[in-house]
Amino acid sequence: MIFSKYLLPLGALLTTALSQTVPQNVDNSTYPPIFPLNKDTEFAFVLEEMLALSNGGGANTGEVLRAATRIIPGSFESFYSAFFFFAEKIHSQAVSALKGGFKVSARDAFFRSSTYYRAADFFLHGNITDPRIYSLWDSALADFDSALSLMDIPGVRFNITSGHGFTVPVIFYKAKDCNEKTPTVLACSGYDGSQEEMYHQIGTKILERGWNFVSYEGPGQPTVRRQQNIGFRPDWWDVVTPVVDWLATRGDVDMDRLALEGISFGGTLAPRAASREHRFAAVLSVDGLDSLFDVLYAAFGPQIAGLFDSGNKTAFDVVMKSLQTNSSLPAQTRWIIDQGEFAFNTTSAFEWWTGLKTINLTKDIIEPINVPIFIGKGQDDASTDDQPELMRKLAESVGKTPTYHFFETDLGAGEHCQLGAESQLAMVTMDWLDGVFKNVTGKNKAGEIGQHHWRRM
Ligand SMILES: *[C@@H]1O[C@H](CO)[C@@H](O)[C@H](O)[C@H]1NC(C)=O
Ligand SMILES: *[C@@H]1O[C@H](CO)[C@@H](O)[C@H](O)[C@H]1NC(C)=O
Ligand SMILES: *[C@@H]1O[C@H](CO)[C@@H](O)[C@H](O)[C@H]1NC(C)=O
Ligand SMILES: *[C@@H]1O[C@H](CO)[C@@H](O)[C@H](O)[C@H]1NC(C)=O
Ligand SMILES: *[C@@H]1O[C@H](CO)[C@@H](O)[C@H](O)[C@H]1NC(C)=O
Ligand SMILES: *[C@@H]1O[C@H](CO)[C@@H](O)[C@H](O)[C@H]1NC(C)=O
Ligand SMILES: *[C@@H]1O[C@H](CO)[C@@H](O)[C@H](O)[C@H]1NC(C)=O
Ligand SMILES: *[C@@H]1O[C@H](CO)[C@@H](O)[C@H](O)[C@H]1NC(C)=O
Repeated sequence: MIFSKYLLPLGALLTTALSQTVPQNVDNSTYPPIFPLNKDTEFAFVLEEMLALSNGGGANTGEVLRAATRIIPGSFESFYSAFFFFAEKIHSQAVSALKGGFKVSARDAFFRSSTYYRAADFFLHGNITDPRIYSLWDSALADFDSALSLMDIPGVRFNITSGHGFTVPVIFYKAKDCNEKTPTVLACSGYDGSQEEMYHQIGTKILERGWNFVSYEGPGQPTVRRQQNIGFRPDWWDVVTPVVDWLATRGDVDMDRLALEGISFGGTLAPRAASREHRFAAVLSVDGLDSLFDVLYAAFGPQIAGLFDSGNKTAFDVVMKSLQTNSSLPAQTRWIIDQGEFAFNTTSAFEWWTGLKTINLTKDIIEPINVPIFIGKGQDDASTDDQPELMRKLAESVGKTPTYHFFETDLGAGEHCQLGAESQLAMVTMDWLDGVFKNVTGKNKAGEIGQHHWRRM
């Protein structure tokens, strides 16, 4: 879904902190806010992400904690091996369980093996010719599909034609086994997250509340990037509107109670979509960013920023390539470049930054959003820095009053996108959304289609 919460210089600090015990009455900023599972901060972060999927049936804690023991700081191959081992083992267990007719066991195992195939792939994107980028993903999708088919109400995949040269893969999870019009949450992840992981992260909690959950991916996101060779693009409304058109044709979606949620960089994409797509009752941005470009621009430091501003593509690409291929640099530095180029379908860091810069939030994006907006911020989320706060200020500057929630480190909810505290995230976001849905008065009767704009505020 995301990238590490620790900005580059914090790596050394954390390594020091790990080798000590935390004494009383110290400056808490010296110590890690959550227990790190690797000395490499990026590995610790992604391990935490995988561990957190346990809260929604996407992993088991013992499996992730065991994999963590096999991972050598900085070694991308060790990360691959540790998770590939679990992917294959748990996949075999799933197949055996299915053969034995044990559907629940098989479903649970297929969900987990799918996660572990995705985890094995996570750090491999630096070498675009590595066939594992595709083979692992195919395995992850296949196992996820096996799991979907074994659910009580199976999640169903659809490909929605966008009319803009790409299709949008969607998974529809029905809350109820009938055709009753039901409140629905449509959601996407961010810079590196899949729609499959979204089910474990927020989907199960949404379904428990009796609402449909619909996940999707657009260009730049993992499956679209692989199957259609398309990188991120700024016109996210062209991704979302075809999906909403399709939802409107279904009998089981209450089009008056349809919300759009985005996680991390998805928290930038969702408001962008909602600036032109007005059929939502609410928009939620969880640790979203006004501008991921601004965060990276600052994190890479003035020399690299200056080189980018000079417009010398050749020189910029050479310098970034030297960082990307230097195995003695922290995993985060290398991975963020690997992933950026991968997700923007380029081998040029300059093209990546140029594309990323156009995906931001500005007054003209926020202003047309005339429905309640939720902005979440993790206290310790250094990867989005003060971006959620900037988003709030931006919204206020155009006369809006977004609901803003600060998730606390002391409660274990301060991580990026509340990793590991999914119940707190769901409590805050979905209880708020329940209030928004209850406030909806208009009924979307035939003949009123197209009048969505007057429904609220
Ligand atoms: C450090 O955090 C703990 C709880 O998380 C708190 O009780 C303590 O007062 C904090 N210490 C300082 C110096 O802020
Ligand atoms: C990239 O992957 C290909 C295919 O596995 C391999 O032949 C090549 O050596 C790799 N390149 C680098 C720089 O590791
Ligand atoms: C969606 O498109 C992909 C890529 O062409 C294909 O592999 C997949 O089977 C399609 N899924 C559905 C549900 O049609
Ligand atoms: C993505 O990159 C590949 C390889 O450079 C290229 O063939 C393809 O056309 C690109 N896709 C788009 C949509 O530009
Ligand atoms: C761009 O940078 C390269 C390498 O540093 C240098 O050789 C070249 O002259 C620069 N081009 C311009 C237009 O400044
Ligand atoms: C790789 O990074 C290390 C640590 O910053 C640095 O000392 C070394 O010179 C770099 N190597 C190359 C080839 O740039
Ligand atoms: C924000 O994105 C728009 C295009 O989407 C671009 O024109 C503008 O320069 C970007 N603003 C900043 C500050 O990067
Ligand atoms: C529901 O409407 C009431 C009355 O207008 C308002 O005070 C409240 O904030 C709304 N609730 C939400 C969650 O938007």
